[in-house]
Amino acid sequence: MSRPDVVDSVVALRARIRDWRRDGLRIAMVPTMGALHDGHLSLVKIALERADRCVVSIFVNPTQFAPSEDLDKYPRQLERDLDMLAEAQADLAFTPDVSEMYAAGFATKISVGGPSAGLETAFRPTFFDGVATVVAKLLLQAAPDLAIFGEKDYQQLCVVRQLCRDLDMPVEIIGAPTIRDAHGLAMSSRNAYLDEAELEIARQLNLILREAAAALAAGANQQQTIAEAIRALTAAGFHKVDYVEARESLTLAPWRQDRVGRILAAAWLGKTRLIDNLEVPAV
Ligand code: PAF
Repeated sequence: MSRPDVVDSVVALRARIRDWRRDGLRIAMVPTMGALHDGHLSLVKIALERADRCVVSIFVNPTQFAPSEDLDKYPRQLERDLDMLAEAQADLAFTPDVSEMYAAGFATKISVGGPSAGLETAFRPTFFDGVATVVAKLLLQAAPDLAIFGEKDYQQLCVVRQLCRDLDMPVEIIGAPTIRDAHGLAMSSRNAYLDEAELEIARQLNLILREAAAALAAGANQQQTIAEAIRALTAAGFHKVDYVEARESLTLAPWRQDRVGRILAAAWLGKTRLIDNLEVPAV
């Protein structure tokens, strides 16, 4: 299987997109920060089921990392990523560097309200400004018909939907189900930081959320269920739990039992922060 072509400038990206458009092709985009895994490949698969061509961006976006976060440590493995994209039959990789994405004098920030409130923002206050700004740029650069985002980053998916709706961006946003290992652990580039003992603990996250989601769906008291989930995560070996919360699945407003909900969590194992979420059916 051949590797996708690689372009690293917006001009070259637009030239390829223009050629595809001239041929009447439908175009999908999968934005990533590289360090690809099966979760990303599932996004490419969905893209190619719905479009004729798939462009994958690989860009470790500095503006979504706080100074205290792991920007320098974030895994960068372009050659391996391109091999994986060959396997997934992606057509084009867009690999801009920081100066291509943020030219000298760059001074714009997109700040999305609504679903960005709380959850991740309570712990990473500038994260979604960075995500919204780079996603808006990527979608304007490639102008795809559709773009695929994983439900693993559920709040991000809601923020991107809000962004595109509010700015009338002519792109369909598709949410893709989380890909999990045999133990239910959600695939994440950050799993690479975990040793065997930490992986064992990490695998408890989805089990504990599953139990909490089932309890909520069965009508259990929300506060008690959440408190129990936090206790269970700590007992399993997570060093710190940033949050476990139930939210309304579309707007991320506080969950009401008669609505479909989402239970979302973030917890630390050593220096690694893991997030996960699951649907909570309406009671
Ligand atoms: O989910 C990610 O990998 C990133 O947040 C994204 C959407 C590619 C923006 O940098």
